[in-house]
Amino acid sequence: MNAEDVDRAASEAVASVRAADDLESLAAVEAALGAKSAPLNAAKRSLGALEPDQRKELGRRLNEARAEVATAVETRRSELAAAARAELLEAERLDLTESPGGRAGHLHLVTQARDELEDVFVGMGFTVAEGPEVETDWYNFEALNLPPAHPARGMWDTLYLDSGEPGTVLLRTHTSPVQIRVMSESEPPIYSVMPGRVYRRDTADASHTPVFHQIEGLVVDRGISFADLAGTLEAFTTTYFGRSIHSRLRPSYFPFTEPSAEFDITCVFCGGDGCRSCGGTGWLELGGCGMVHPNVFAAVGYDPEEWTGFAFGFGIDRMTAQRNGVDDLRELFTNDIRFLEQF
Ligand code: DAH
Repeated sequence: MNAEDVDRAASEAVASVRAADDLESLAAVEAALGAKSAPLNAAKRSLGALEPDQRKELGRRLNEARAEVATAVETRRSELAAAARAELLEAERLDLTESPGGRAGHLHLVTQARDELEDVFVGMGFTVAEGPEVETDWYNFEALNLPPAHPARGMWDTLYLDSGEPGTVLLRTHTSPVQIRVMSESEPPIYSVMPGRVYRRDTADASHTPVFHQIEGLVVDRGISFADLAGTLEAFTTTYFGRSIHSRLRPSYFPFTEPSAEFDITCVFCGGDGCRSCGGTGWLELGGCGMVHPNVFAAVGYDPEEWTGFAFGFGIDRMTAQRNGVDDLRELFTNDIRFLEQF
């Protein structure tokens, strides 16, 4: 074997290495190149028969050739390993953006409304608080200036729960007890809204359900006046219902506020002209409000000489139903998908 033979054998070996198209065939090529009979190995064994000069020359050339082949094998091995890894990654890739498709759900109409109401008040600087649906008589009535046997208790048809002590544990009839909880747990100033589910002993009909939702508002600070209450409700009304809808307050009575008022908004159906929905008045009743009664402050240990405040509360369901042209409140809670998916 001469130098040209070595060169040829080397380039053939390198070519076979490069031709291997996966790690397995590369291993087979390597095995073949390692065999005694492989040309470069046979050439090495035949060196002994050569003259010293020739042996040195051809030996050097052979070593170079074997190094070339070894480098080619390593290069090819890392190329093939990288390709194999990429292939595996592709095969096992999870498409995290893939959606189950078809029927994704969405929030219930009343939940959407509650979220929007919260957003409007949060935008005005209020925090959001919650309280329990199972309440004691003290939070639901007594601390709200409704002592036992107060005639105004009849304003709420109450569902009592059997606690062992008759008439002390109930399903809250309004979100007003959360005012008491917020005041008991924190110090003024308070600017909070309190949404939640409430219960009344009512038979369901188109405009009543025994379970419904309210949102309560409470502000306690120094120097709060009735004008702050009116201004807050007007700001809320135009933000939530749009610039053409306004609010008005009518004198009313609630035990926990003095003075108290009923809170109306421009009829959203006729824009105030008078129609069937508003009974021809041009106004829709939304809820109640007033200045926090001194007895309520006393119940939570606030000094009524130092602190002043207003509160309001209104129903979410009826308002949402009206806004969306739903004429039977019961539809909201029947959970018929064909109804719910329209909103
Ligand atoms: N809690 C009353 C109700 O359910 C509504 C209400 C009236 C809430 C006046 C208030 C208020 O905070 O000041 O009928």
